[in-house]
Amino acid sequence: MTGDLIPGAPGAAPAATPVDADLVVSMDGVGVRRSGTALLHDVDWRVELDERWVVLGPNGAGKTTLLSLAAGRLHPTTGVAHVLGERIGRTDVNELRTRIGLSTAALAERLPGDERVADVVITAAWSVVGRWRESYDRSDEARARALLDQLGIGHLADRAYGTLSEGERKRVQIARALMTDPELLLLDEPAAGLDLGGREDLVARLAELAYDPDAPALVLVTHHVEEIPPGFTHALLLREGTVVAQGLLGDALTADNLSKTFGLPLTVERHGDRWTARAA
Ligand SMILES: Nc1ncnc2c1ncn2[C@@H]1O[C@H](COP(=O)(O)OP(=O)(O)O)[C@@H](O)[C@H]1O
Ligand SMILES: [Mg+2]
Repeated sequence: MTGDLIPGAPGAAPAATPVDADLVVSMDGVGVRRSGTALLHDVDWRVELDERWVVLGPNGAGKTTLLSLAAGRLHPTTGVAHVLGERIGRTDVNELRTRIGLSTAALAERLPGDERVADVVITAAWSVVGRWRESYDRSDEARARALLDQLGIGHLADRAYGTLSEGERKRVQIARALMTDPELLLLDEPAAGLDLGGREDLVARLAELAYDPDAPALVLVTHHVEEIPPGFTHALLLREGTVVAQGLLGDALTADNLSKTFGLPLTVERHGDRWTARAA
């Protein structure tokens, strides 16, 4: 056993590092309290490298809080959370930031409308918003363009970000989150505010990402089962900061679990690789 070895000494297991190298997120008994309220309560959750998770729940369920924890931007009040082998609260978050792609409405609001689309993507590499220097490396430009191409908006690379449609902006935000080649990609309600065409287009792009074996581990937050892209493998259902159900998509997304999560009787149907839900 390693019990009597000095931590950090040759032969000793690295302290507080998950044993499983494929484990991207691991939470044990994690709670978050703010002003006496439990935003999250007793969450146990593991995300592996090849998994694509959807986090479902009504407004205020704690989805964004959970994502902030996984992004290392928030510390648990109770329990233990590891992300990419680093213990949250005990590690330099700036080191983790380039390893995690994060796209949220709050971050999107800070993107300057007069910025060239390719620059919006490139600047992610430095975790800054806006212009950072006069000229870029050619490889940065090439990577940003390749990502925009991959998301079907390569032709918009030289446009001003502010001139894009909402759907095009969402795709730029995802390209930006992928710029640092992260090991974990966190998307908070990427389809919010899109019309039907925009949503279907985004769902198709996210499905491509989900099926790409080189893509990072994915966690997608939504409150609509209709927005679950094909290729997603797992679901975590949250209500009032508590996990209602989690596991393989087909096991977790039952009418019973969804009804408990959203607090009303629901039926759920699977049509091929898409889902719908409605009041029972
Ligand atoms: N700093 C805070 N202090 C107190 N309550 C908060 C704070 N941040 C969020 N909340 C509350 O925590 C709950 C969960 O928020 P959030 O994680 O954003 O939910 P979701 O993303 O599922 O809509 C909400 O009721 C919200 O109002
Ligand atoms: Mg939210």
